[in-house]
Amino acid sequence: MQTWLTEHAQIDVPVISAPMGGVAGGALARAVSAAGALGMVGAGPGTDPDWIARELDVVASAGRPFGVGLLGWAVTDVDAVLAVLAPARPVLVSVSYGGELSDWVAGLHDAGITVATQVGTLDDARDADAIGVDLLVVRGAEAGGHGRNQVATLPLLQAVLDDVDTPVVAAGGIGTARGVAAVVAAGAAGAWVGTAFATCREAATAAPAREALLAAGLEDTVYTRVFDLAQGAGWPAEFGGRALTNAVTRTWAGREQELEARPPALTALADQVAKARADGDVAFAPVWAGQAVGLVERPRTAAELVAELARADALLRRAAGL
Ligand SMILES: Cc1cc2nc3c(=O)[nH]c(=O)nc-3n(C[C@H](O)[C@H](O)[C@H](O)COP(=O)(O)O)c2cc1C
Repeated sequence: MQTWLTEHAQIDVPVISAPMGGVAGGALARAVSAAGALGMVGAGPGTDPDWIARELDVVASAGRPFGVGLLGWAVTDVDAVLAVLAPARPVLVSVSYGGELSDWVAGLHDAGITVATQVGTLDDARDADAIGVDLLVVRGAEAGGHGRNQVATLPLLQAVLDDVDTPVVAAGGIGTARGVAAVVAAGAAGAWVGTAFATCREAATAAPAREALLAAGLEDTVYTRVFDLAQGAGWPAEFGGRALTNAVTRTWAGREQELEARPPALTALADQVAKARADGDVAFAPVWAGQAVGLVERPRTAAELVAELARADALLRRAAGL
């Protein structure tokens, strides 16, 4: 299947494995790229440029195109990160969620790197388009991890495709070949898949989180800022996150303002979440995941998942009567 993404990035399968801090290191990205899709390394909050350089060495060893995803709000020294990225020559760099996107675009373009950003509303898409971003990642509310919660993937995808000419990939809720086929048929250049890759063997997902992900169903996630409040994580307030429901979300999701107004309760929750993270106790620790978690039933290698997603080609041919 050929799309703008496969041609531009020189890959075989129009799928990008999402950058996921703490989950998508060089090993996962390498396996995805080696399988013919585009593997992304995810730099989470507090990542130092040396870590990025090391992980990029790992992914580059596949000899295939790869990318890197950064959190705009979390990068304090843009020049230091650009200095690591330019010689590593990723084909794609995404900068999402805050910071000054325009600070990145010129520097990345100077290095010959394509720039992407995740957008959660039509206004986000128009703003990114005006700044000169090359690839819009249209990310709906059903997606895992952080982002906006305003609009679901399909309505947002339709609106953005009708509104801007910049290439688009779709993100949020895509976990099988059917999802890839749907968004490519609609006009997207490919799919940006996070949650499904988080369960792959090469992901840095800890064992208890992986078990919880594999056991979870379509209805077992919730969008909340509770974990960010508890961890003092520094996320801009407009970007909450979708995680597996657990004891913490059952008590506090939807009551974030009340939690913020009650410092003793917040301190107690912060201690509880910190201990749970250290102990790998998923009843109280965040496990970031989107609704597509309900589509994943067994652990696979990244190559197995890429092969499954690549079946979108056959689905599209069948739909076209070919
Ligand atoms: C565990 C996890 C961690 C994530 N970390 C990041 C991150 O560090 N940077 C980023 O831009 N997006 C991050 N995301 C969001 C993904 O890029 C993407 O929007 C999302 O996974 C797509 O939806 P899906 O999970 O339904 O496939 C994360 C998502 C998950 C599930």
